[in-house]
Amino acid sequence: MSPLRIILVGLGARAQFWMRVIRSNPDCIIVGLVDPSEAARARALEQWPAAVAAPDVSLLSQIEADAVLLATPPGGREAQMEAACSAGLAILAEKPLADSVELAARYVEMAEADDVPLMVGLNFRFLPVTQKTLELFDTTVGEPEFARFTYERWRDGWKPNFNKYPLTMDQPMLWEQSIHHFDLMRYVYRSEPVSVFGHTFNPSWSMYRDDANVSALITFANGVTVNYQGLWQSNWQTPGFQWRSECARGVVVQNEQFGQLNYALHADAELTPVPLPPYEQWINDAEALLAAFVAALRGTAPLLCSGRDHLSSLRMVQACILSSQQNQAINPADLETAAKREPGHHHLDPSALQQRTSQ
Ligand SMILES: NC(=O)c1ccc[n+]([C@@H]2O[C@H](COP(=O)([O-])OP(=O)(O)OC[C@H]3O[C@@H](n4cnc5c(N)ncnc54)[C@H](O)[C@@H]3O)[C@@H](O)[C@H]2O)c1
Repeated sequence: MSPLRIILVGLGARAQFWMRVIRSNPDCIIVGLVDPSEAARARALEQWPAAVAAPDVSLLSQIEADAVLLATPPGGREAQMEAACSAGLAILAEKPLADSVELAARYVEMAEADDVPLMVGLNFRFLPVTQKTLELFDTTVGEPEFARFTYERWRDGWKPNFNKYPLTMDQPMLWEQSIHHFDLMRYVYRSEPVSVFGHTFNPSWSMYRDDANVSALITFANGVTVNYQGLWQSNWQTPGFQWRSECARGVVVQNEQFGQLNYALHADAELTPVPLPPYEQWINDAEALLAAFVAALRGTAPLLCSGRDHLSSLRMVQACILSSQQNQAINPADLETAAKREPGHHHLDPSALQQRTSQ
């Protein structure tokens, strides 16, 4: 079978990983490179000299391809989505799909109308540690009932190899990072959120324009409650991470973002470390994600991490923002209802939502 021909759109920090990951997959090839930055195109062409490079997405209708990979900032993807859908190209879009739920919902509807598969790059689902956690619930510790998720980081937004748009965007922690965490919660607890009580804030020393720190109490339909703290402006150079799930027969404790999994049954004196396969972070997870995308396009597996599924995680972000503004818990499902009742409104009016939720 001939390899999947990919046009990589956005050639910044994340694309450096994608170029390597795509090269390691014999089922894939990069045929096009798009970025308005000439320096970014030149750097990418050094690695993929046979690809056609262009400054904008008009390339999508000009060359033969099968798919686009969007590694662009989440804000301002309208033209990219329109070009991909009208060229009939399958889409693998980096998270978050958009920087508003309504825009993301519009993209999902656009792709569905044009019968274009749309997958979102939720690579953390594909980590061995995540898969093993699901297995521990099923085989060892039983059903989770409550949890604590702590992510503490000193994220120096000025670091040369980091993207710069989070420094100035609205709610950077939530849209850029917590979106992964919220998605993981829905994935491993196998349930949808029914309540988010959030508080977002920006400490006095923050280098970010808008809130870099988040705390939230999240409840899922199956009863799981999570105390969440996600911080970009805390800690020191060593990141702090711990995700504890308390289950019917014991506890699962993940001590590092990419691994270090342990469990204990209630009567155990100590944690038992869980062996995980050798693993290169940012690479193996993206490889597994890309393989899943290829399998879905070849028809050998269902599409995972669909755009439509992603809307539920994005609604958690939106609920957290509204909750913090209104100082009350928000059910993310109410945002869906509100959006359906008011098509075309880009930003939901919190006071209108408040009236609806109290009805
Ligand atoms: N899944 C993950 O673990 C992970 C990790 C890092 C970043 N990301 C995501 O990847 C995406 C890109 O992040 P990044 O760190 O590479 O950002 P970046 O700012 O380093 O790179 C973005 C690139 O997109 C280009 N660009 C901007 N507008 C464009 C347009 N209209 N058409 C084509 N190119 C355009 C910019 O010139 C830049 O080169 C974001 O959605 C981010 O959240 C995901």
